[in-house]
Amino acid sequence: MKKLIVANWKLNPLTLAEAKELAGKIDQAPLHTAVLCPPTIFLGEISYPILGAQDVFWKAKGPYTGQTSVAALKSLGVKYCIVGHSERRVLGETDEEIQGKIEILLENGIVPVLCIGYGTTVAEDDMEVIDVLHGQLEAALSGGINRKKVVVAYEPVWALSAGPGQPKKTPTDEHIEKVALFIKTKYGIDKVLYGGSATSVNAQEILAQHHIDGLLVGGASLLPDDFNKIINTKI
Ligand code: PGA
Repeated sequence: MKKLIVANWKLNPLTLAEAKELAGKIDQAPLHTAVLCPPTIFLGEISYPILGAQDVFWKAKGPYTGQTSVAALKSLGVKYCIVGHSERRVLGETDEEIQGKIEILLENGIVPVLCIGYGTTVAEDDMEVIDVLHGQLEAALSGGINRKKVVVAYEPVWALSAGPGQPKKTPTDEHIEKVALFIKTKYGIDKVLYGGSATSVNAQEILAQHHIDGLLVGGASLLPDDFNKIINTKI
């Protein structure tokens, strides 16, 4: 079965030339569905079959200096948009903003990739994890949002890598599977991705999980050889 692999380039690369070079090295017709999310400013210049954004503003237009509208993303052919990433939550993004972003993306036919996650250290207590995820999901999906159209990425904060070639530990397969099943059965979500130190080494094992529909890849998405292996992983 085809999985969805989303590349979150974060604040990399630093120049347009490097971004174009990186995109040019990524397999254009991989086994799985691959989405590249470069920094917003490069979106119009990157040519890849499916593009995603790393963020969007929740208001359609107006006096909001520095923000990026959903219409602008749409006009650049963007099909997916990450929201609620832990690296944005820590900068002050609120549940209310996340909910507004999901709403405006759905209204404009862009698939939101809602990131949820817990903890800065390896969590021992699955019940505690479930409690935090429950709160994040309740808040983000309130107000009549069509949940079938939202992709959820489960990213334990402690598992996020420090950058390309610097993966951390990943949760056990049982933990990932349990959380994915919880998200699907409790919230009516169809697609759950896993994110946090996914690499070409662990991709096969994670993607083989029954309830995991793909990966959100940070560090390894900046390494073309690694990322090409991930998007062509045989399961
Ligand atoms: P990582 O990042 O793959 O570098 O851990 C994933 C993410 O933050 O989306």
